[in-house]
Amino acid sequence: MATINDNYLKLKAGYLFPEIGRRVNAFAEANPEANIIRLGIGDVTEPLPEACRAAMVRAVEDMGDRASFKGYGPEQGYNWLREKIASRDFQARGCEVDASEIFISDGSKCDTGNILDIFGKNNKIAVTDPVYPVYVDTNVMAGNTGTANDKGEFEGLVYLPISAENDFTAAIPDEKVDLIYLCFPNNPTGATATKEYLKSWVDYAKANGSIIFFDAAYEAFITDESLPHSIYEIEGARDCAIEFRSFSKNAGFTGTRCALTVVPKTLTAKAADGSDVELWKLWNRRQSTKFNGVSYIVQRGAEAVYSEEGQAQIRDLIAFYMENARIIREKLTAAGMQVYGGINAPYIWLKTPSGLSSWDFFDKLLQTCHVVGTPGSGFGAAGEGYFRISAFNSRENVEEVMKRIAQLQA
Ligand code: MLT
Repeated sequence: MATINDNYLKLKAGYLFPEIGRRVNAFAEANPEANIIRLGIGDVTEPLPEACRAAMVRAVEDMGDRASFKGYGPEQGYNWLREKIASRDFQARGCEVDASEIFISDGSKCDTGNILDIFGKNNKIAVTDPVYPVYVDTNVMAGNTGTANDKGEFEGLVYLPISAENDFTAAIPDEKVDLIYLCFPNNPTGATATKEYLKSWVDYAKANGSIIFFDAAYEAFITDESLPHSIYEIEGARDCAIEFRSFSKNAGFTGTRCALTVVPKTLTAKAADGSDVELWKLWNRRQSTKFNGVSYIVQRGAEAVYSEEGQAQIRDLIAFYMENARIIREKLTAAGMQVYGGINAPYIWLKTPSGLSSWDFFDKLLQTCHVVGTPGSGFGAAGEGYFRISAFNSRENVEEVMKRIAQLQA
């Protein structure tokens, strides 16, 4: 008789965003006249930059000609894209990252989950609370946790609480942990990390032989020039950190799929016999076996992000969403709400009014304003009493949502 991976049974029935979708669909079915506006999942709404579209059209034409047709590409990604990323996103900011250390993939959600393939089963794993749920759920699936308690906290994980009291930046743990997930600019709270703060994590990781998984999917939204975009801006990070990045949010590739993971060749972890093993070699082996690369057409689209027009177009796109974020922050503050984030990140994190639970506020907003957000408790126990609003939508919809919420508060 076939058996299953029982770890899946430890998970809540649905992943957060499909669960929200299910509730919204049920409401929409019961209220077909409601004009529902979604500021829940951080999915982009504006069209792909023209430079990316044009490059993809040219790439489709390449595929139609025997001389320029492409079959399987390199599992690690085409060198012309990896080299642009290395020089423009990393070396230009003083980071020592070589093109060969960049692995092109179809998403940082996938990579932050897949990376566990190359790590052992006895690692002590730390996540912030609240946190992007993928980090927790993939550890549950991999068998790295016990079961969840009533609050949804999994046995075996080390939860590092983040709240307004610590500026949504976790304290360095007193105990020794082996793998640490950090996300800056932060999803869901919109918080940022200074160089000094990241340095304290790098120092901790180096002292303890830990590896940091640094999710920088939202780095393009940093407006404060003093803030680091990459963990490799911190000295020593090449010896203790893997970084994840994405074209989803800066260039609107959520439906097109292109991302990257940086695994420095200097990074090692221990084998069972105590020897040091290069993680780059393991990730390269994993990708070569389980992944066939991102399509040529999409990689050409991503490459166009680095052209002069591409850069100008993504700057406009980011500025557009950040103006949405500013409007949301200001209007919610004017409506008397306590808000965080939204300055260097496309997410606004708010305290639910009148002490409502996160899901109660979700229901109230949906039923009264026909607006969808994300309940803070969906990101972890310490997210209870908070709510996330995404700045990814049209200006018209953002303004309409703000009008509806102002009426709710009045
Ligand atoms: C979110 O809303 O948290 C993100 O869209 C999820 C993701 O990027 O996978």
